[in-house]
Amino acid sequence: MAIDLQGWMFWLPSFICFACSLILGHLYVKHRARSKVLAERLCRSRSALKRVRAQLRSRIERQKLTLRASNDVIFHWNAHSGLLRWSANGGRFFTAPPRPCNAWRLLQRCVDKRDRERVRHELQLFMAGGAAVWENEFTLKGRGKARVPVRVRGILVRDVSGKPLKMVGALSDMTDAHAAKEAARALARAARLATIGEITAGITHEVNQPLGAILNNAETGLFLLQRKRPSIGMLRTILEDIRNDDLRASQVVRRTRALLQTREMIREQVSLNKVLAEAVDLLWMQAKRRGIALTLSQGSIPSISGDSVHLQQVIINLIGNALDATEVDITGSKRVEVLSQYVDSSIRVSVRDTGCGIAPEQLEDIFESFHSGKVEGLGLGLSIARAIVKAHGGHIYAENNLHGPGATVSFELPVPVDASTTPFPSTLLVRQAAD
Ligand SMILES: Nc1ncnc2c1ncn2[C@@H]1O[C@H](COP(=O)(O)OP(=O)(O)OP(=O)(O)O)[C@@H](O)[C@H]1O
Ligand SMILES: [Mg+2]
Repeated sequence: MAIDLQGWMFWLPSFICFACSLILGHLYVKHRARSKVLAERLCRSRSALKRVRAQLRSRIERQKLTLRASNDVIFHWNAHSGLLRWSANGGRFFTAPPRPCNAWRLLQRCVDKRDRERVRHELQLFMAGGAAVWENEFTLKGRGKARVPVRVRGILVRDVSGKPLKMVGALSDMTDAHAAKEAARALARAARLATIGEITAGITHEVNQPLGAILNNAETGLFLLQRKRPSIGMLRTILEDIRNDDLRASQVVRRTRALLQTREMIREQVSLNKVLAEAVDLLWMQAKRRGIALTLSQGSIPSISGDSVHLQQVIINLIGNALDATEVDITGSKRVEVLSQYVDSSIRVSVRDTGCGIAPEQLEDIFESFHSGKVEGLGLGLSIARAIVKAHGGHIYAENNLHGPGATVSFELPVPVDASTTPFPSTLLVRQAAD
């Protein structure tokens, strides 16, 4: 068979050209489709990027607004560089340079010199320890002669070996909180002064009694000395009596002075039964004058950590309220009972009266400041009592008596765990203070 070479020579290149154009065409179509997809994707990611950017911007804006609205200064400390950065409102608190600076140098420059060493020492201890949260209170040097009390709370991030990496935290201005605390203290003192006024009769009686006894004993002593051979034994007894009466009188003066003082809460071991007895001693004369039987029933209770003067203020106010409520009631017997008990790991002190009772809708309201049902009442006694009881970790409440007239106002204070494990039998010691 003869091969038509001329035909091949013609057809082969044409076929190759045709095949190449097919392949190129296919590649072109495919590439266009892919670039279209890519372009679409690019568009989508661009708009996503725009969205994310807008979200980020509005989030930053929100954070800025929050910072402006809040009084707190936010700070960030880098342990590696030692630099401290803070939010723009830092200038309101202290005279700090506008740029980040070394934290220790800033502490030296901005913290009041009375607090400086303490803060430095406590911060160094914290860094060396393993804790994550640092809390402290100190005073910053403000503009001019101003002093700004602040509270700092920072979270420290450490590496696996416990080495500090960075701290993020906030400084809060405590000026208002301090002023409120000061006002509350002044208010409590005013209430104590009012209480003193009410119990003056009792105090006078309490001081008068030992003074009278001292006079009697002194006169008897002088009479004995007129004898040729005065009995040394009798003279000793007389002198011991004089000493005891003098101690009693000065104790009353001490208690009254303590009530008059403006002071911070001082925690010590307190026997609540002793505090109750002293409060009843101060008020029994007033109760007697009003024809009210004031009784004290003391259960066997453990001592607690607290401030005896503040707790006495609470009890005096509860008894004072009970006496006021009972005086209103003219029918039936007038009684106010003070009771201490050990109940469910707590000490409960109740003041129960046979008075007019409390309207059910006011059982909570009477603990609010300036809520008074009396013509001359300040309406502060119970709100101060609630604050004091709360500061001792307890709570106070009022209820109307289920059986019989009147109301009972009680407060409960927690007992330390080690003390509460010891059993306390509830034997009652009853003291009558009406005759
Ligand atoms: N045992 C009670 N029985 C009836 N009402 C009571 C009793 N205890 C308190 N209240 C009511 O609660 C009110 C508030 O008492 P609170 O001790 O706070 O103020 P106050 O006695 O009016 O004034 P002060 O500040 O001088 O103590 C009283 O005015 C009284 O109306
Ligand atoms: Mg009162």
